[in-house]
Order: sequence, then structure tokens, then C-alpha cells
Amino acid sequence: MNFLAKDDEAVDTKRRTLLKLSGMLAGGAAVTAGLSSRTLAAAPAGAAAFSPPSADNPIRINFNENPLGMSPKAQAAARNAVAKANRYAKAEIIGLREKVAEHHQVSSSSVLLTAGSSEGIRAAVEAWSPLGSQLVIPELTYGDGEHFAKIAGMKITKVKALADWAFDIEGMKAAVASHDGPSLVYLVNPNNPTGTITPADLIEPWITSKPANTMFIVDEAYAEFVNDTRFRSVTPLIAKGMDNLILLKTFSKIHAMAGMRVGYAVAHPNAIALLENHVAGEKINFCGVDAALASMSDTAFIAYSKKSNDLSRQILLKALDELQLPYLPSEGNFVFHQLKTPLKDYQKHMADAGVLVGRAFPPADNWCRVSLGTPEEMQWVANTMREFRKKSWI
Ligand SMILES: Cc1ncc(COP(=O)(O)O)c(C=O)c1O
Repeated sequence: MNFLAKDDEAVDTKRRTLLKLSGMLAGGAAVTAGLSSRTLAAAPAGAAAFSPPSADNPIRINFNENPLGMSPKAQAAARNAVAKANRYAKAEIIGLREKVAEHHQVSSSSVLLTAGSSEGIRAAVEAWSPLGSQLVIPELTYGDGEHFAKIAGMKITKVKALADWAFDIEGMKAAVASHDGPSLVYLVNPNNPTGTITPADLIEPWITSKPANTMFIVDEAYAEFVNDTRFRSVTPLIAKGMDNLILLKTFSKIHAMAGMRVGYAVAHPNAIALLENHVAGEKINFCGVDAALASMSDTAFIAYSKKSNDLSRQILLKALDELQLPYLPSEGNFVFHQLKTPLKDYQKHMADAGVLVGRAFPPADNWCRVSLGTPEEMQWVANTMREFRKKSWI
């Protein structure tokens, strides 16, 4: 089809732009001279070209969203699905479940589609929250586990972090061992808001040792952005038949589909059957299902999404190094860095400059989580940070 060919071309053009940008970055030109509007070649359909931020149109780097816009093919699929959306997406849901199963090399009875991974987190917490069970979480991690456990009336055990906010896996094991009842362990890898990975060599032996009365939720929302080879997905453990873990995934991040609300759980069929009791019947919206199917097949977009994120990270880290602001090794689409000024003041100055940065993440005082925008946006943000230094605002 014509417009698909055009979309392919647009992604290709954008990829060439990225390569050009990364070449400039390697030579330092992009950082010192800034990016001229001429470097901003045609964007994929639907992706807005960069323009300086304003109060009405700020740079949104506060919610770990993907700034690129959905894959052009996913956008076309979603648009086409509107015309069919008087129907339930019965066959398409089965198709997506099967495609996800194939992707993870499990049977489709090991997959449950959810409305974003948030629904998967809620379903897992509800399903494993009988009286006397506890949720074990690291001190600093994604908040939904704790949020839903509170609603479910579960005991919540937070385990203090190690240096640099790393997960204390031994401490978490001790929390499980000392609890008189079932435990649900929520591990986010890479973690949010820190952006750091926990090496597979620390996680896999614990899961495969099958601690009594323990279920693991492993949330790999950001896995596709990872470069560190010490990270491994837990997928193969499920494929091998382990029945004590649930992998949660989302189309919100690498696929840039946050507003479409599509995610899924992968687990042993017995665990999936329990989760099913806590979702509204796997009734995912038609546009989201068709977009997810198209996006999974668009490997060029996924590669482009990863590359763009890598380049944006490089631009931000260069500025942080220059400004001597410590940061954690980021493996996601965001960076957690320290400030020399109170976060509240920094947020305000940034907002006044048209840039929305992340919220506070106690107990990490005066750390700021910056989601990675497009390379052009990050160049703008990096230059804004340099200007702030002159005023002692950062
Ligand atoms: C680690 C993690 N898990 C899950 C989610 C929820 O994402 P969604 O419900 O859009 O899939 C987020 C959102 O930022 C996240 O950071």
C-alpha cells in the first residue's frame, strides 16, 4: 500500500537523521553548536518536528513516555481499526495473544493481555493478597505495587536500598524468610525511577531456588532499552515451566503506545488462570490491539526507538558530566541524577523554561528523574541546564 511505503521512507529518513546526529555528537559539534533546524529531516507520520518549548507546548520529560510517536504502521493500523470498532476485537485479541506467545516462546495459555501493565500489577497483587500475605519491595521502585497492595490491605515490607539505590536482594530474601505466610516479591528490572538494572545472576538463582510460599512479579517495562549484558529477561525461566513468577510487559515504552493501554502478563498457565479472575475479561480496545500487532512487526521502528533513546541519553549524560552532577547508570528511557539545588526550585525553573521534569521520589532527596525526549529535545534541555549553572539553579 502506498502510504505504508511512504511511512517506511519516513522512518528511514528519520533513522538517517539520527545517524547524522550521532556522528555530530561523537565529534562534539551537536553539543557545542546546538542542533540546527536543518538537521531535523522529515519525521515519521504523526511525530511533531521540534520547536522550542512554550508554556502551551512544553518538553514533557516527566512520565517516561516515548517522545517519538507510535510507529507509522501502528498509527495506520489504529486508524483503520476505528472503522471496525463497533465490534469486539475477538479474533484480533487471540491473534495478539498468539503473537506475544511466539515472541516469548511460550504457549498462548501462558499469556494474558492487560490494559497496560498497570492492570497486570493490580491483578497480580489482588490475586496474591489473601489474608496474611506480604508484598516485598525495594525502598525505591515503581509505586504501583505498593499502591495496589495498600488497597488490597496487604502488609507491605520495604527493604532498604544498598549504596546507589541498588536492590538489596539478600535483604529481600531475609524479608521473605522471616515472614510467617505467603510473600509476593515485586522486582522492576530495569528499575524505575533509578534506571538501573539488577543483574540476572542475582535474580535467577533466587527464583529457581523456589522459596516456599513465594510468588515473584518481574516488571520488565523498560527491558528493550537495556545495553548492559548483565541484564537478562526472566522469559526463559517461564518457557522452561517455572510456575513461581509472572513477567509483566507493556507497549507503553519502546513501542511508544502509552495512551493505547496495552500490556500483558507471561506466566505458567496456572498463574495466568488466577490472574484472569482479576482482569475485566481481556477486553482490550480494538485500536490498541491492532496497533500492537503492527508495532510488533515493525522491527525498523523498534530499532529506531532504541537508537534514538541511546543518543538522547548520551546528550544528557554529557551535560551531567560537564556540570559534575552524579547520576546512576541508566538502562531505561530516563536518567536519575543528583541536583545541587532543591528539586522543587529546579522543577519550577525548568517549568518556567518550558521543560517538565520528574516528580520527587522520596527518600531520594534532591534527585531528579529526567525522561529521555528526542535528541533535539535533549539538546535543548542540556543547553538549558548549562544556562542554569550560570545562575546557580542546578
Ligand atoms: C516499571 C513500570 N511498570 C509499569 C508501568 C505502567 O505502565 P503501563 O500501565 O502504561 O503499561 C510503568 C509506567 O511508567 C513503569 O514505570
